[in-house]
Amino acid sequence: MRLSARLDRIPPYLFAQLEQKIAAKKAEGIDVISLGIGDPDTPTPALVVDALCEAARDPGTHRYPSNRGRAELREAVAGFYERRFGVDLDPATEIVPALGAKECIFNLNLAFLDPGDAALASDPGYPVYTGGPLLAGAEPVLVPLQPDHGFAPDLDGVAPSDRERARLLYLNYPNNPTGAVAPDGLFERAVEFARANDLLVVHDASYTETTFDGYVAPSFLATPGAKEVAVEVFSLSKGYNMTGWRSAAIVGNASAVEAYWRLKTNIDSGMFDAAQLAAAAALERGDEAAREMSAIYQRRRDLVCDALEEIGVLVSRPRGTIYVWAPVPEGHTSASYCELVLEQSAVVLSPGSAYGPNGEGFFRISLTVSDDRLAEAVERLRSSLVA
Ligand SMILES: Cc1ncc(COP(=O)(O)O)c(C=O)c1O
Repeated sequence: MRLSARLDRIPPYLFAQLEQKIAAKKAEGIDVISLGIGDPDTPTPALVVDALCEAARDPGTHRYPSNRGRAELREAVAGFYERRFGVDLDPATEIVPALGAKECIFNLNLAFLDPGDAALASDPGYPVYTGGPLLAGAEPVLVPLQPDHGFAPDLDGVAPSDRERARLLYLNYPNNPTGAVAPDGLFERAVEFARANDLLVVHDASYTETTFDGYVAPSFLATPGAKEVAVEVFSLSKGYNMTGWRSAAIVGNASAVEAYWRLKTNIDSGMFDAAQLAAAAALERGDEAAREMSAIYQRRRDLVCDALEEIGVLVSRPRGTIYVWAPVPEGHTSASYCELVLEQSAVVLSPGSAYGPNGEGFFRISLTVSDDRLAEAVERLRSSLVA
């Protein structure tokens, strides 16, 4: 069987490999604690489940949905953006539902990149920013995120030849995997950069609703001029515990939203109507649930950071996301340390290098296990770090 050259260009997806390793350990009867993938452990808010059940009982939701999305959902997104971010969106032209941010980000590569083009992707960064361009026959150009620059990409450092071929710039704040929030002035600079280089900014807003210590994350679209050059991909996965629901929306520049919609009509048939109505309920009435989740993650963040600090691992406490990004102990690479912890302690960590060369020297802890299990994992980690 011959695979396409396209598929041969990309490495296996990190979490697919991790899942295999975890399954093998579990099969040996070992109690594995996975702090790898960021998949919320608590249930979707009842109001969302109830909205789904009610909508699913209506046969009107059982037929093919439309890729444009139901008016109820587009209006709920517009209402949410106005209330939460002070951003005005036209439900008719500036909002389309997506089957998760991952699908949307991947498909944007197909809509905007040709061979010879490039996408500017944060390093470290969410793997689809690099895998997507490769699968589209184009190239990712890595833009380093350095701790001493607040994990902001150095846009001035992008080589002129890369600016020329770049059609997309990916940004993501609060940021996976570093936990950084948007540094002051970055969004304004990105709008200027996009104008000067005629490219589309794609802001991945997967973690705006998961923030700590009173920090409130902005929308990229609240930046003056952003709608001329940007789209934002807003996901309900993390903020509302809806990873399994495949529920997101692309919002912003009307031409870019239209291009995404045009592509999608050739690829899938949209989001289950009842799931759209449930997503609308989350956006209309889920603020409190999202705040409660943030409080849980803040407590877990402190539990992890306190324990790491006690054993001399210096971490900067993230003000958003569901991750802690920490340096590996001296003498280890990211991979060798994560391998050692898995073997010795049966705790799964994500090696920083899996998010790009600049992730080398770090590991990522996901806060999506119960407090008890997290405390147990931290205790095991403490023994393996001290040992
Ligand atoms: C930065 C980032 N973007 C997108 C996603 C995927 O989100 P969704 O579940 O909406 O596809 C993730 C999931 O971990 C993520 O970390």
